[in-house]
Amino acid sequence: MLGVALIQVATAIAGVYFGSKAAMAFGRDLRRGVFRQVTSFSAKDVNVFGAPTLITRGTNDVQQVQMLMLMGLNFMVATPIMCIGGIIMALREDLNLSWLVWVSVPVLIVVVGYLVVRLMPLFRSMQTKIDRLNGVLREQIIGIRVVRAFVREPHEAERFGAANKDLTDVSLKIGALFVLMFPAIGMILHVSTAAVLWFGGQRVDAGEMQVGQLTAFLQYLLQILMAVMMGTFMAMMIPRASVCADRIGEVLDVEPSIHEALTPVAPAEKAGRIEFRNVSFAYPGAEAPVLSDISFTAEPGQTVAIIGSTGAGKSSLLALLPRLYDAASGRCCSTASRSPTWTGQKSPSASPWCRSGRTCSRGPSSTTCASASPTPRTSSSGTP
Ligand SMILES: Nc1ncnc2c1ncn2[C@@H]1O[C@H](COP(=O)(O)OP(=O)(O)O)[C@@H](O)[C@H]1O
Ligand SMILES: [Mg+2]
Repeated sequence: MLGVALIQVATAIAGVYFGSKAAMAFGRDLRRGVFRQVTSFSAKDVNVFGAPTLITRGTNDVQQVQMLMLMGLNFMVATPIMCIGGIIMALREDLNLSWLVWVSVPVLIVVVGYLVVRLMPLFRSMQTKIDRLNGVLREQIIGIRVVRAFVREPHEAERFGAANKDLTDVSLKIGALFVLMFPAIGMILHVSTAAVLWFGGQRVDAGEMQVGQLTAFLQYLLQILMAVMMGTFMAMMIPRASVCADRIGEVLDVEPSIHEALTPVAPAEKAGRIEFRNVSFAYPGAEAPVLSDISFTAEPGQTVAIIGSTGAGKSSLLALLPRLYDAASGRCCSTASRSPTWTGQKSPSASPWCRSGRTCSRGPSSTTCASASPTPRTSSSGTP
């Protein structure tokens, strides 16, 4: 028996070790997946979600799923074995008392199920509130100079307070349900124990059962209920983790709006030339384009001034350069090649534009640049 106990200890340690390793590796891979996906997003894709929620999804949400994985791997195997083994052994001890098992276990499942169903929407809302808190804090840190310059500290403190209170309120509601959970489980355990002693005691009195059998039955019933309770702890983690998994899935399912070319073209000569030809661009959902029909060329070493009033679209034009957005029409290209022998090989030093076939012009045609044509909104000039 001592030997079996030692083997059990060794296998338990090994189980926890490998379970933890697998869960942590899963978390690492998931985080890496989210990170890679988000870094492949265009500014438009990032705007669809918002930076704060992407941060929460890549950190807190992944951690919740990872925790469920950890608990699952460590307890998922042990719990059903304990439960089913306990039921078989209890039935072998005394069939007449078996109804106690069939009553107490479903009652426990119904109570826990009810609480879990109520927890689910609260957890979903909690993740949103964390996003919101992240967002407010992020804006405040980014805009700290403006906040101080315009003495907006009280207003910002109020905004943060409101977001913080929202999160606290949801956490309190969740806490209230958790507070119910433990007494409910304890009550079911203790009422079951009392019932076993009551009905079992009568059978012992009548000489239909041994005291030893009664004690063994009680042990098995408690083991079954403990297993159900462990399953419950897992069940408690499932709602939150499933909400988080959905949110992570939403990020991973997005097809980035800027595609990498399957066969990127590397210019033979890196001339450092920037060329815009009849480029138009509108922000998603905007009524009017912010840039329309922009054409100019900036040769290497040349200084080009883009002049316009606030809101004319200067920053938007620059955002097209690193392909934070793709132009709606026209062609923009950097490092235009003067050679027709562009390779189909991916080159790590290639300009970001040239990773895509969509905005990168290929071949000798890209050497011909349209002349500068100022538009009503943005004026551009090819000379310093
Ligand atoms: N991310 C965005 N989403 C939607 N509209 C935007 C966005 N950024 C800027 N705009 C709008 O595009 C126009 C041009 O903005 P911007 O390029 O920042 O001008 P500038 O840098 O010349 O002041 C403005 O009307 C602005 O409101
Ligand atoms: Mg600007």
